Amino acid sequence: MKHQKIYEAGDKMISLIKDNYDLLQSLGSFGINLGFGDKTVKEICEDNGVDTYTFLAVVNLVINGYSDFDNDEQLSVPTLLHYLEASHVYYLDFQLPFIRRELAESIDESDSLGILIMKLYDEYSREIRRHMMYEEQTLFPYVNALLEGRAAGDYTIETFSKTHEEASEKLKELKILIIKYMPSDVRRNNQLMATLHDIYNNEEWLSLHAQVEDKVFVPAIRRLERLSRRSDVTKNISSMVFKGGQENGDMLSERERDVIVALVQGMANKEIADHLCISVNTVITHRRNIARKLQIHSPAGLTIYAIVNGLVDISAVKL
Ligand SMILES: [Fe+2]
Ligand SMILES: [Fe+2]
Repeated sequence: MKHQKIYEAGDKMISLIKDNYDLLQSLGSFGINLGFGDKTVKEICEDNGVDTYTFLAVVNLVINGYSDFDNDEQLSVPTLLHYLEASHVYYLDFQLPFIRRELAESIDESDSLGILIMKLYDEYSREIRRHMMYEEQTLFPYVNALLEGRAAGDYTIETFSKTHEEASEKLKELKILIIKYMPSDVRRNNQLMATLHDIYNNEEWLSLHAQVEDKVFVPAIRRLERLSRRSDVTKNISSMVFKGGQENGDMLSERERDVIVALVQGMANKEIADHLCISVNTVITHRRNIARKLQIHSPAGLTIYAIVNGLVDISAVKL
Protein backbone atom coordinates (compact mmCIF):
# COMPACT_ATOMS: atom_id res chain seq x y z
CA MET A 1 0.00 0.00 0.00
CA LYS A 2 1.57 3.23 -1.16
CA HIS A 3 -0.86 5.91 0.04
CA GLN A 4 -3.60 5.92 2.60
CA LYS A 5 -5.74 8.66 1.12
CA ILE A 6 -8.90 7.49 -0.59
CA TYR A 7 -9.63 9.88 -3.42
CA GLU A 8 -12.99 11.53 -3.84
CA ALA A 9 -14.99 13.25 -6.56
CA GLY A 10 -14.13 16.75 -5.29
CA ASP A 11 -10.33 16.24 -5.31
CA LYS A 12 -8.32 18.02 -7.96
CA MET A 13 -7.09 15.66 -10.66
CA ILE A 14 -3.65 17.24 -10.59
CA SER A 15 -3.19 16.29 -6.94
CA LEU A 16 -3.95 12.65 -7.74
CA ILE A 17 -1.26 12.68 -10.38
CA LYS A 18 1.25 14.40 -8.09
CA ASP A 19 0.70 11.57 -5.61
CA ASN A 20 1.11 8.89 -8.22
CA TYR A 21 2.35 9.54 -11.71
CA ASP A 22 1.58 5.94 -12.77
CA LEU A 23 -1.97 7.19 -12.95
CA LEU A 24 -1.11 8.96 -16.20
CA GLN A 25 -1.23 5.60 -17.96
CA SER A 26 -4.76 4.97 -16.66
CA LEU A 27 -6.01 8.44 -17.62
CA GLY A 28 -5.33 7.72 -21.28
CA SER A 29 -7.30 4.48 -21.09
CA PHE A 30 -10.25 6.35 -19.61
CA GLY A 31 -10.09 8.64 -22.63
CA ILE A 32 -9.00 11.60 -20.49
CA ASN A 33 -6.37 13.73 -22.17
CA LEU A 34 -3.95 16.17 -20.59
CA GLY A 35 -4.62 19.87 -20.38
CA PHE A 36 -7.39 19.74 -17.75
CA GLY A 37 -6.13 22.65 -15.64
CA ASP A 38 -7.32 22.76 -12.03
CA LYS A 39 -10.56 20.85 -12.52
CA THR A 40 -11.80 18.28 -10.03
CA VAL A 41 -12.10 14.57 -10.73
CA LYS A 42 -15.87 14.90 -11.07
CA GLU A 43 -15.65 17.78 -13.54
CA ILE A 44 -13.11 16.03 -15.71
CA CYS A 45 -15.03 12.76 -15.68
CA GLU A 46 -18.22 14.52 -16.67
CA ASP A 47 -16.44 16.41 -19.46
CA ASN A 48 -15.23 13.11 -20.87
CA GLY A 49 -18.31 10.94 -20.43
CA VAL A 50 -16.63 8.81 -17.76
CA ASP A 51 -18.61 7.59 -14.74
CA THR A 52 -16.99 9.26 -11.70
CA TYR A 53 -17.71 6.49 -9.19
CA THR A 54 -16.19 3.88 -11.49
CA PHE A 55 -13.19 6.08 -12.23
CA LEU A 56 -12.53 6.46 -8.49
CA ALA A 57 -12.98 2.73 -7.88
CA VAL A 58 -10.27 1.96 -10.44
CA VAL A 59 -7.98 4.81 -9.35
CA ASN A 60 -8.18 3.95 -5.64
CA LEU A 61 -7.37 0.35 -6.47
CA VAL A 62 -4.45 1.29 -8.72
CA ILE A 63 -3.00 3.83 -6.28
CA ASN A 64 -3.92 2.42 -2.90
CA GLY A 65 -4.76 -1.20 -3.49
CA TYR A 66 -8.16 -0.26 -2.09
CA SER A 67 -10.89 -2.50 -3.43
CA ASP A 68 -13.32 -2.47 -0.56
CA PHE A 69 -15.82 -0.11 -2.15
CA ASP A 70 -19.23 -0.53 -0.67
CA ASN A 71 -21.32 -0.37 -3.75
CA ASP A 72 -21.01 -2.72 -6.73
CA GLU A 73 -24.30 -1.35 -7.92
CA GLN A 74 -22.86 2.01 -8.74
CA LEU A 75 -20.12 0.67 -11.00
CA SER A 76 -20.73 1.54 -14.62
CA VAL A 77 -20.10 -1.50 -16.81
CA PRO A 78 -19.81 0.54 -20.05
CA THR A 79 -17.14 2.76 -18.45
CA LEU A 80 -15.22 -0.30 -17.23
CA LEU A 81 -15.50 -2.06 -20.56
CA HIS A 82 -14.23 0.97 -22.40
CA TYR A 83 -11.37 1.35 -19.93
CA LEU A 84 -10.25 -2.28 -20.23
CA GLU A 85 -10.43 -2.25 -24.01
CA ALA A 86 -8.39 0.94 -24.21
CA SER A 87 -5.89 -0.52 -21.70
CA HIS A 88 -5.38 -3.50 -23.99
CA VAL A 89 -4.74 -1.23 -26.96
CA TYR A 90 -2.28 0.78 -24.87
CA TYR A 91 -0.42 -2.32 -23.78
CA LEU A 92 -0.38 -4.27 -27.03
CA ASP A 93 0.11 -1.43 -29.49
CA PHE A 94 2.28 0.89 -27.46
CA GLN A 95 3.90 -0.69 -24.42
CA LEU A 96 5.00 -4.04 -25.83
CA PRO A 97 6.68 -2.61 -28.98
CA PHE A 98 8.17 0.23 -26.94
CA ILE A 99 9.98 -2.16 -24.61
CA ARG A 100 11.02 -4.34 -27.50
CA ARG A 101 12.75 -1.38 -29.12
CA GLU A 102 14.47 -0.50 -25.86
CA LEU A 103 15.58 -4.07 -25.37
CA ALA A 104 16.92 -4.36 -28.91
CA GLU A 105 18.97 -1.22 -28.34
CA SER A 106 20.44 -2.39 -25.07
CA ILE A 107 21.61 -5.87 -26.07
CA ASP A 108 23.68 -7.23 -28.88
CA GLU A 109 21.21 -8.91 -31.19
CA SER A 110 23.95 -10.66 -33.15
CA ASP A 111 25.14 -12.38 -29.98
CA SER A 112 23.50 -15.74 -29.25
CA LEU A 113 22.50 -14.64 -25.74
CA GLY A 114 20.97 -11.51 -27.24
CA ILE A 115 19.01 -13.59 -29.75
CA LEU A 116 17.66 -15.76 -26.95
CA ILE A 117 16.63 -12.74 -24.87
CA MET A 118 14.69 -11.30 -27.81
CA LYS A 119 13.15 -14.69 -28.46
CA LEU A 120 11.99 -14.92 -24.85
CA TYR A 121 10.54 -11.42 -25.02
CA ASP A 122 8.64 -12.24 -28.21
CA GLU A 123 7.23 -15.37 -26.60
CA TYR A 124 6.14 -13.29 -23.64
CA SER A 125 4.46 -10.77 -25.97
CA ARG A 126 2.59 -13.54 -27.74
CA GLU A 127 1.35 -14.96 -24.46
CA ILE A 128 0.01 -11.60 -23.30
CA ARG A 129 -1.55 -10.94 -26.69
CA ARG A 130 -3.31 -14.29 -26.55
CA HIS A 131 -4.59 -13.53 -23.05
CA MET A 132 -5.95 -10.13 -24.05
CA MET A 133 -7.43 -11.38 -27.33
CA TYR A 134 -9.32 -14.04 -25.41
CA GLU A 135 -10.84 -11.32 -23.25
CA GLU A 136 -11.68 -9.24 -26.29
CA GLN A 137 -13.17 -12.07 -28.31
CA THR A 138 -14.97 -13.96 -25.56
CA LEU A 139 -15.41 -11.98 -22.37
CA PHE A 140 -16.18 -8.50 -23.73
CA PRO A 141 -18.71 -9.67 -26.35
CA TYR A 142 -20.42 -11.68 -23.60
CA VAL A 143 -20.63 -8.57 -21.41
CA ASN A 144 -21.95 -6.50 -24.33
CA ALA A 145 -24.61 -9.12 -24.97
CA LEU A 146 -25.51 -9.04 -21.29
CA LEU A 147 -25.85 -5.26 -21.42
CA GLU A 148 -28.15 -5.54 -24.41
CA GLY A 149 -30.18 -8.27 -22.73
CA ARG A 150 -29.33 -10.95 -25.28
CA ALA A 151 -26.73 -13.12 -23.52
CA ALA A 152 -27.14 -16.79 -24.33
CA GLY A 153 -25.22 -20.01 -23.82
CA ASP A 154 -23.30 -21.39 -20.88
CA TYR A 155 -20.62 -18.73 -20.59
CA THR A 156 -20.70 -16.77 -17.33
CA ILE A 157 -18.33 -14.47 -15.50
CA GLU A 158 -17.44 -17.42 -13.23
CA THR A 159 -16.07 -19.29 -16.24
CA PHE A 160 -13.74 -16.36 -16.82
CA SER A 161 -12.91 -15.70 -13.20
CA LYS A 162 -11.88 -19.29 -12.43
CA THR A 163 -9.10 -19.38 -15.01
CA HIS A 164 -8.07 -15.76 -15.12
CA GLU A 165 -4.43 -15.08 -14.40
CA GLU A 166 -2.00 -12.78 -16.05
CA ALA A 167 0.86 -14.83 -17.46
CA SER A 168 4.11 -13.15 -16.61
CA GLU A 169 6.45 -16.04 -15.77
CA LYS A 170 8.40 -15.38 -18.94
CA LEU A 171 8.98 -11.76 -18.04
CA LYS A 172 10.30 -12.74 -14.61
CA GLU A 173 12.66 -15.18 -16.26
CA LEU A 174 13.78 -12.53 -18.71
CA LYS A 175 14.64 -10.08 -15.93
CA ILE A 176 16.62 -12.67 -14.00
CA LEU A 177 18.55 -13.69 -17.10
CA ILE A 178 19.44 -10.10 -17.85
CA ILE A 179 20.39 -9.20 -14.29
CA LYS A 180 22.41 -12.29 -13.57
CA TYR A 181 23.97 -13.28 -16.83
CA MET A 182 23.96 -10.47 -19.33
CA PRO A 183 27.50 -9.25 -19.98
CA SER A 184 27.35 -5.56 -20.60
CA ASP A 185 29.85 -2.95 -21.59
CA VAL A 186 29.85 0.54 -20.15
CA ARG A 187 28.12 1.98 -23.19
CA ARG A 188 25.20 -0.40 -23.00
CA ASN A 189 24.94 -0.56 -19.24
CA ASN A 190 22.87 2.61 -18.72
CA GLN A 191 20.54 1.65 -21.52
CA LEU A 192 20.08 -1.82 -20.10
CA MET A 193 19.35 -0.46 -16.60
CA ALA A 194 16.69 1.89 -18.00
CA THR A 195 15.14 -0.97 -19.96
CA LEU A 196 15.04 -3.18 -16.88
CA HIS A 197 13.36 -0.40 -14.96
CA ASP A 198 10.68 -0.17 -17.67
CA ILE A 199 10.20 -3.93 -17.62
CA TYR A 200 9.54 -3.80 -13.87
CA ASN A 201 7.06 -1.01 -14.43
CA ASN A 202 5.46 -3.00 -17.15
CA GLU A 203 5.00 -5.97 -14.91
CA GLU A 204 3.37 -3.86 -12.25
CA TRP A 205 1.02 -2.31 -14.80
CA LEU A 206 -0.04 -5.75 -15.92
CA SER A 207 -0.66 -7.01 -12.42
CA LEU A 208 -2.78 -3.92 -11.64
CA HIS A 209 -4.69 -4.45 -14.86
CA ALA A 210 -5.49 -8.00 -13.73
CA GLN A 211 -6.57 -6.67 -10.33
CA VAL A 212 -8.99 -4.20 -11.92
CA GLU A 213 -10.45 -7.12 -13.84
CA ASP A 214 -10.68 -9.40 -10.81
CA LYS A 215 -11.74 -6.93 -8.13
CA VAL A 216 -13.81 -4.34 -9.99
CA PHE A 217 -14.94 -5.78 -13.32
CA VAL A 218 -15.85 -9.31 -12.18
CA PRO A 219 -18.07 -8.13 -9.26
CA ALA A 220 -19.79 -5.61 -11.55
CA ILE A 221 -20.56 -8.32 -14.12
CA ARG A 222 -21.70 -10.73 -11.44
CA ARG A 223 -24.26 -8.16 -10.41
CA LEU A 224 -25.32 -7.59 -14.01
CA GLU A 225 -25.87 -11.34 -14.39
CA ARG A 226 -28.05 -11.42 -11.29
CA LEU A 227 -30.17 -8.59 -12.67
CA SER A 228 -30.54 -10.10 -16.11
CA ARG A 229 -31.49 -13.48 -14.69
CA ARG A 230 -34.33 -11.78 -12.86
CA SER A 231 -35.64 -10.02 -15.96
CA ASP A 232 -35.24 -13.27 -17.94
CA VAL A 233 -38.16 -14.80 -16.08
CA THR A 234 -40.55 -12.23 -17.54
CA LYS A 235 -38.87 -12.33 -20.93
CA ASN A 236 -39.07 -16.12 -21.14
CA ILE A 237 -42.80 -16.13 -20.64
CA SER A 238 -43.43 -13.75 -23.52
CA SER A 239 -40.89 -15.44 -25.78
CA MET A 240 -42.51 -18.82 -25.12
CA VAL A 241 -45.86 -17.49 -26.16
CA PHE A 242 -44.38 -15.81 -29.20
CA LYS A 243 -42.32 -18.83 -30.21
CA GLY A 244 -45.42 -20.96 -30.22
CA GLY A 245 -46.91 -18.66 -32.76
CA GLN A 246 -43.78 -18.20 -34.81
CA GLU A 247 -42.67 -21.77 -35.21
CA ASN A 248 -45.99 -23.52 -35.44
CA GLY A 249 -48.33 -20.82 -36.72
CA ASP A 250 -48.03 -21.99 -40.29
CA MET A 251 -48.89 -25.49 -39.31
CA LEU A 252 -52.33 -24.52 -38.11
CA SER A 253 -55.04 -25.28 -40.59
CA GLU A 254 -57.57 -22.68 -41.68
CA ARG A 255 -60.21 -24.44 -39.63
CA GLU A 256 -58.06 -24.52 -36.52
CA ARG A 257 -57.55 -20.78 -36.80
CA ASP A 258 -61.30 -20.30 -37.07
CA VAL A 259 -61.73 -22.35 -33.90
CA ILE A 260 -59.21 -20.19 -32.08
CA VAL A 261 -60.94 -17.00 -33.20
CA ALA A 262 -64.26 -18.35 -31.99
CA LEU A 263 -62.74 -19.49 -28.69
CA VAL A 264 -61.21 -16.15 -27.88
CA GLN A 265 -64.54 -14.52 -28.58
CA GLY A 266 -65.86 -16.58 -25.71
CA MET A 267 -67.87 -19.20 -27.60
CA ALA A 268 -68.51 -22.65 -26.13
CA ASN A 269 -67.96 -25.85 -28.16
CA LYS A 270 -71.60 -26.11 -29.22
CA GLU A 271 -71.66 -22.48 -30.36
CA ILE A 272 -68.44 -22.97 -32.31
CA ALA A 273 -69.90 -26.08 -33.96
CA ASP A 274 -73.00 -24.19 -35.06
CA HIS A 275 -71.01 -21.16 -36.12
CA LEU A 276 -68.64 -23.18 -38.32
CA CYS A 277 -71.23 -25.76 -39.39
CA ILE A 278 -69.26 -28.71 -38.02
CA SER A 279 -69.96 -31.29 -35.30
CA VAL A 280 -69.09 -30.78 -31.66
CA ASN A 281 -66.74 -33.77 -31.90
CA THR A 282 -64.84 -32.10 -34.72
CA VAL A 283 -64.51 -28.94 -32.61
CA ILE A 284 -63.04 -31.04 -29.80
CA THR A 285 -60.59 -32.67 -32.21
CA HIS A 286 -59.53 -29.25 -33.51
CA ARG A 287 -59.00 -28.00 -29.99
CA ARG A 288 -56.85 -31.00 -29.14
CA ASN A 289 -54.72 -30.46 -32.25
CA ILE A 290 -54.36 -26.77 -31.53
CA ALA A 291 -53.15 -27.50 -28.01
CA ARG A 292 -50.67 -30.05 -29.31
CA LYS A 293 -49.29 -27.83 -32.06
CA LEU A 294 -49.01 -24.64 -30.06
CA GLN A 295 -48.33 -26.15 -26.67
CA ILE A 296 -50.91 -23.66 -25.42
CA HIS A 297 -53.88 -25.00 -23.53
CA SER A 298 -55.48 -22.19 -21.60
CA PRO A 299 -58.03 -19.78 -23.06
CA ALA A 300 -55.86 -16.88 -21.84
CA GLY A 301 -52.83 -18.35 -23.63
CA LEU A 302 -54.82 -18.82 -26.85
CA THR A 303 -56.04 -15.26 -26.59
CA ILE A 304 -52.49 -13.96 -26.35
CA TYR A 305 -51.50 -16.16 -29.29
CA ALA A 306 -54.39 -14.87 -31.39
CA ILE A 307 -53.59 -11.22 -30.65
CA VAL A 308 -49.85 -11.54 -31.19
CA ASN A 309 -50.36 -13.38 -34.48
CA GLY A 310 -53.03 -11.02 -35.76
CA LEU A 311 -55.86 -13.58 -35.83
CA VAL A 312 -58.09 -11.22 -33.94
CA ASP A 313 -58.18 -7.57 -33.14
CA ILE A 314 -57.76 -6.82 -29.49
CA SER A 315 -61.16 -5.09 -29.48
CA ALA A 316 -62.87 -8.35 -30.53
CA VAL A 317 -61.47 -10.24 -27.58
CA LYS A 318 -63.72 -11.10 -24.69
CA LEU A 319 -61.59 -10.45 -21.62
FE1 LIG B 1 -7.26 -7.64 -19.71
FE1 LIG C 1 -6.75 -10.27 -17.93
